[in-house]
Amino acid sequence: MKWLCSLSLVAGLIATTLSPVHADTTQPVHPMVKPQSTQARDAFVTDLLSKMTLDEKIGQMRLISVGPDNPKEAIREMIKQGQVGAIFNTVTRQDIRKMQDQAMQLSRLKIPLFFAYDVVHGQRTVFPISLGLASSWDRNAVTTVGRISAYEASEDGLNMTWAPMVDITRDPRWGRTSEGFGEDTYLTSEMGRLMVEAMQGNNPADRNSVMTSVKHFAAYGAVEGGRDYNSVDMSPQRLFQDYMPPYKAALDAGSGGVMVSLNSINGTPATSNSWLLKDVLRDEWNFKGITISDHGAIKELIKHGVASDPEDAVRVAVKSGIDMSMSDEYYSKYLPGLVKSGRVSEKEVDDAARHVLNVKYDMGLFTNAYSHLGPVGSDPVDTNAESRLHRPEARSVARESMVLLKNRLDTLPLKKSGTIALIGPLADSKRDVMGSWSAAGVVDQSITVLQGLRNAVGDKAQIIYAKGANVSNDPGITDFLNLYEKAVNVDTRSPQAMIDEAVATAKISDVIVAVVGEAQGMAHEASTRSDITIPQSQRDLIAALKQTGKPLVLVLMNGRPLALEKEDQQADAILESWFSGTEGGNAIADVLFGDYNPSGKLPMSFPRSVGQIPIYYSHLNTGRPYNPEKPEKYTSHYYDAANGPLYPFGYGLSYTTFSVSDVKMSSPVMKRDGSLTASVTVKNTGKRDGATVVQLYLQDKTASMSRPVKELKGFEKITLKSGEQKTISFKIDADQLKFWNASMKYVSEPGTFNVFIGLDSQRVNQGEFELL
Ligand code: BGC
Repeated sequence: MKWLCSLSLVAGLIATTLSPVHADTTQPVHPMVKPQSTQARDAFVTDLLSKMTLDEKIGQMRLISVGPDNPKEAIREMIKQGQVGAIFNTVTRQDIRKMQDQAMQLSRLKIPLFFAYDVVHGQRTVFPISLGLASSWDRNAVTTVGRISAYEASEDGLNMTWAPMVDITRDPRWGRTSEGFGEDTYLTSEMGRLMVEAMQGNNPADRNSVMTSVKHFAAYGAVEGGRDYNSVDMSPQRLFQDYMPPYKAALDAGSGGVMVSLNSINGTPATSNSWLLKDVLRDEWNFKGITISDHGAIKELIKHGVASDPEDAVRVAVKSGIDMSMSDEYYSKYLPGLVKSGRVSEKEVDDAARHVLNVKYDMGLFTNAYSHLGPVGSDPVDTNAESRLHRPEARSVARESMVLLKNRLDTLPLKKSGTIALIGPLADSKRDVMGSWSAAGVVDQSITVLQGLRNAVGDKAQIIYAKGANVSNDPGITDFLNLYEKAVNVDTRSPQAMIDEAVATAKISDVIVAVVGEAQGMAHEASTRSDITIPQSQRDLIAALKQTGKPLVLVLMNGRPLALEKEDQQADAILESWFSGTEGGNAIADVLFGDYNPSGKLPMSFPRSVGQIPIYYSHLNTGRPYNPEKPEKYTSHYYDAANGPLYPFGYGLSYTTFSVSDVKMSSPVMKRDGSLTASVTVKNTGKRDGATVVQLYLQDKTASMSRPVKELKGFEKITLKSGEQKTISFKIDADQLKFWNASMKYVSEPGTFNVFIGLDSQRVNQGEFELL
């Protein structure tokens, strides 16, 4: 029972309403306090290293993935020989216990293994994809997701997760946009920090904490053209100003691991980048945990053209600072020879093995190798048991993650009466609603929109469903989606027959709800798109539904901003639901029927067309900015399209309305070592209670370098009853004003700063102050 007590210290949302041992997530999580000193750890590890053979040290540097190439039996033999440091892709206590037994009973030094998995947006309970979670702009929601994910992962015997993913991306063509928190540095840093604090809890060694491994270091989200694995080329100023802070925030919060990205940065692959992994990560940031290469990345150094053969790749990776190699046999094959010939020093191997042993120590594995497994006989009989899920929390986070993009003439909320036509290829898809990287989530346990709507209306209204279209009519795309799993069911009827059925359904209904967008596999690793519109099959369906003249509500499922210019004209209402997880269908119903008033805000700008990419709100002004009120030819714009995004960063509607007062500054001036506050009063001017996000943006008006037109520096999510008002104050200090200047010094410069506060990045009220 000891762990139950420690759990209550860290978190505690729901214990009262839920049956057995569910995670507790209401309490704030405090920055990690390690119980033992790093001196004790260093002494322990030094002693252990002195007893290890070279091969055993190399063994610690290997992370083996369970899969067809590596069956469990073969892995168990390697463990016995001391050739493995950690395992990933195994998610049941029974399997994990067998492997740990092998290490603890049969290996020479009995060094425990650690077990890792991609717990990105949930383990058994699947929460909204990270882009959806970011749309909640709710710090408590992140803590809830982090605590429950860690709880469920640790109950499955895991010690580490490959999360959070904090790659800033401003190119929605990139499929992995879905895994991150969007385009903004501050929002992503906050989300990453909170996720680390929540998952690691007070201590990653605790029974229900897991250690995090922030990824993908670095700048993976900036791959050219959004094409996965492609090169990144960027100025040091932009790298450090915009892309690095989220990784740093996760490390400052105590993340024990760093997963290294697959891309090159300014010509050097991250995996062979000693500047990145040593000078920045170790020397400047003082990181003491482990660096792990991404899947197969060491081999890939050959194709990158920075290593001549596998042995050379190993040499380059170790010398650059890759402690652990994910999923290849190269370290064990080539490192012994490289050390013997002196091309890699034993000290370099010792350093890497030390980092691995450090994190095992921090995971508490040397105190109790079974700490996340419990005693023999305690393993759950049914790992997928319904009682292991956290449905109420999943539903609550999911509805917070939804963004109302359009609501003409208050089409929404819908009434729970009459007949509702529910149409679309994603309306009854259990697989898609979960999103990609859905960890150990079980497809059958997710709630589709059809189920959610039926649960909500009971016998008060009629829901009639028609699929209406396949996700895509392009066999190239459906084959791609079904390559490794049967992910998409292709209806063999003709597209016209499906549309006809949908139109007939719509005609006998009062309102149409069409669930359209992307299959989850379209927004995943290696799922780059050159076109980010809704696939043509579904656009044909929408056009036909529009023709019926019935009110048309689009519920979008997708893992990236889409180009929705046409749909914005066609639909009466649009709800962005992302991929909302196990409870997605119920959460969508809550929003559609007004049982929850939408409060989400976009964490990325939605372009009008793919041609506008990259489009992000925090751009520089240029010498010839375009003014839509006074258009001029020789200004920075596209002549064939409107200049701004279709929906801006930070945007999202509610079923109520809010007003924001003028910005009040506590002082017109600020000293370098001082601070001031900027305040606004926000009022709920509508008839319903609701929540919104008050956003603070700053602009350095004149500096030694051109600075962005605005940058998010603070936000607060507030709930206001109808007619209620609240004053929200943001503290501003010199740290928020700093930037990397032309000589890469991190400075603030005196001068005027604009202060913008609003409920999205475009409609803001303005104040200013002078930094002395
Ligand atoms: C991905 C990582 C992931 C790893 C293990 C790689 O392909 O890039 O994000 O953590 O696989 O599943």
